[in-house]
Amino acid sequence: MILLLGISWSGFSQKDYKLWLQYNTLTNLDLKAKYLSHIKGITLLGNSETISIAGNELQSALEDMLEKKITVNTKLEVFQSIVIGSKTHLNAEIQKTVESDLNLINDEGFIIKSIVINNKSHIVITGKKEVGVLYGVYSFLRLIQTNKSIEKLNIADSPKTNIRILNHWDNLDRTVERGYAGFSLWNWQKLPDFIEQRYIDYARANASIGINGTVLTNVNANALILTPQYLEKVEALANVFRPYGIKVYLTARFSAPIEIGGLKTADPKDADVANWWKAKAKEIYVRIPDFGGFLVKANSEGQPGPQNYGRNHVDGANMLADAVAPFGGVIMWRAFVYSEHDANDRAKQAHAEFQPCDGKFRENVIVQVKNGAIDFQPREPFHPLFGAMTKTPLMMEFQITQEYLGFSTHLVFLPKLFQEVLESDTYQKGKGSTVTKVIDGSIYKNKITGIAGVANIGNDLNWTGHPFAQANWYGFGRLAWNPYLDSETIADEWLRCTFSNDKKFIAPIKEMLIQSREAVVNYMTPLGLHHIMDTGHHYGPGPWVSNLSRPEWNPVYYHKADKNGIGFDRSKSGTNAVSQYAPEVAVIFDKLETCPEKDLLWFHHVSWDYKLKDGHTLWDGMALKYQQGVNQVAAMQKTWNASEKYVDSERFKEVQMLLNIQYKEAKWWRDACLLYFQQFSGKELPIGVEKPS
Ligand code: GCU
Repeated sequence: MILLLGISWSGFSQKDYKLWLQYNTLTNLDLKAKYLSHIKGITLLGNSETISIAGNELQSALEDMLEKKITVNTKLEVFQSIVIGSKTHLNAEIQKTVESDLNLINDEGFIIKSIVINNKSHIVITGKKEVGVLYGVYSFLRLIQTNKSIEKLNIADSPKTNIRILNHWDNLDRTVERGYAGFSLWNWQKLPDFIEQRYIDYARANASIGINGTVLTNVNANALILTPQYLEKVEALANVFRPYGIKVYLTARFSAPIEIGGLKTADPKDADVANWWKAKAKEIYVRIPDFGGFLVKANSEGQPGPQNYGRNHVDGANMLADAVAPFGGVIMWRAFVYSEHDANDRAKQAHAEFQPCDGKFRENVIVQVKNGAIDFQPREPFHPLFGAMTKTPLMMEFQITQEYLGFSTHLVFLPKLFQEVLESDTYQKGKGSTVTKVIDGSIYKNKITGIAGVANIGNDLNWTGHPFAQANWYGFGRLAWNPYLDSETIADEWLRCTFSNDKKFIAPIKEMLIQSREAVVNYMTPLGLHHIMDTGHHYGPGPWVSNLSRPEWNPVYYHKADKNGIGFDRSKSGTNAVSQYAPEVAVIFDKLETCPEKDLLWFHHVSWDYKLKDGHTLWDGMALKYQQGVNQVAAMQKTWNASEKYVDSERFKEVQMLLNIQYKEAKWWRDACLLYFQQFSGKELPIGVEKPS
């Protein structure tokens, strides 16, 4: 321990920084002995950078967890070893043992298998490509991190989506739009020559959960990123990320040909404009041969786009697609569009603009759709575009950063939210046409598939601001790899890798994580309420706000509370947004009696006296939900306080302080919303709901 001016620096944030790659020493000695009986060394086959990263990771993690020196060889020795190498580097004997397994995986997949060669047992970790080996190594290490058996292993696993990507909303001045974990990781001023250790650690963390792409810049794009001065910096980052299997992508500002190209227009039908983009793409690919492509926000919230020139999304996306196609690039064209000129129902606009474009996009265009039709709310019904475009690949856009969910102050385990959306049945190709099956391409047999997550990462010591927000980065990656994973499994894995394998810790804290999502819904937006956060920053309640210039920016537009009731009527007799869903779904949402209560006020304007399924009136039920949210946070505090002995004091205190704030703010939400809505309902608070103090 170093004592400097009386301040103790011991253990300073190291645990926080190490994310889920803690590799804690095993405390269960029997288990440790069992693992050691299978691991006498490492055999490294092949000598690429990726394989050496995999070898180093394996060696140092095993040494940390098992407290034993593990030797690394490049030939199969007599002892039992972990053999790692891609298919082409395996010797004939080993190849034979995994031949049929290799048919089960795709190019990024891996095999982990217990094999016997010359009477010696080994564990082979292999894949068709070296990045698969790296993924396999992380998966193998996770078995040990989570105290699973490594006997008789026979695992064949592949990612279910092609593009598993983080979207950084990072500006060139290092501010991060909707970022609550410090400034941007990308130190543009010092790049390209100064490579921060963070870039490597970032790549490592992402590779460990299978993330294979990163969009470095904000969707509200700055054309400067496409100038040579910045491209050489992007190239430096791409070089760092490449051995970890991570491709770099950029956001393309549609008006870049004017802003940095000296052209008079950015009209996608103008030959000079198309040629400018072609030349720009070539320039990028000369530097970064595996550049992923562009993410584009066009004609949304003031961003320029093809509609500025009387063209449409297809014209814009296809023009860019043609520029990157010769190099294998893709265009991720966002469907997050809404305009003040159609104030009827913002929720309908993306479907109305995009569905008619189905089948008109180039093969290397994928349309990126937010999980819900408004904007990353604590709960939204799934976006009606999912399943509604049969000839166009759609990728999911989740928001990992908690713009509407209490920033990095509130503890909310997002995989639960993500899972709910992914499991929703669109019925677009009959029962079982879940959102997952749309985005993994299994329903419409799409060639490109993907999941994007708006990153919650910044240069905070712990990366994500809240220690538990790391779970949302982790969970996003795991779901992007396998969108069928259960959020409980993810919570279990993350807790074991990040904190402890002690059952007495895992059981209650896992429950806390799982409940945390419903808690935030309850104290912010129960029963289908949405977008009632204070405007601009979106932190804290603001259901009363009504003075913003655009109608759909005002919370009153969304809750429509009056003396008759509350909620947005999107039924057939309202804006008819329900009609954008498949008939089987539309009919359920349309009727008050069949609409799930969790989505009630999303689809209906409901009288204060309406009887909910549990017999309470809507007013009473809503008030009780707000109270329940507060109670749930109180329970989270209690659970956390009881876990003190299992957690290092630094993280324990951080989470404790944050939960205290969350509790205060849950009450703030409850009191503010109930007092405001009470003006319309004119009713007393029911028994069981605390009166505002
Ligand atoms: C939200 C968010 C903006 C962001 C936008 C987008 O509206 O508040 O900051 O730019 O989404 O996704 O494009």
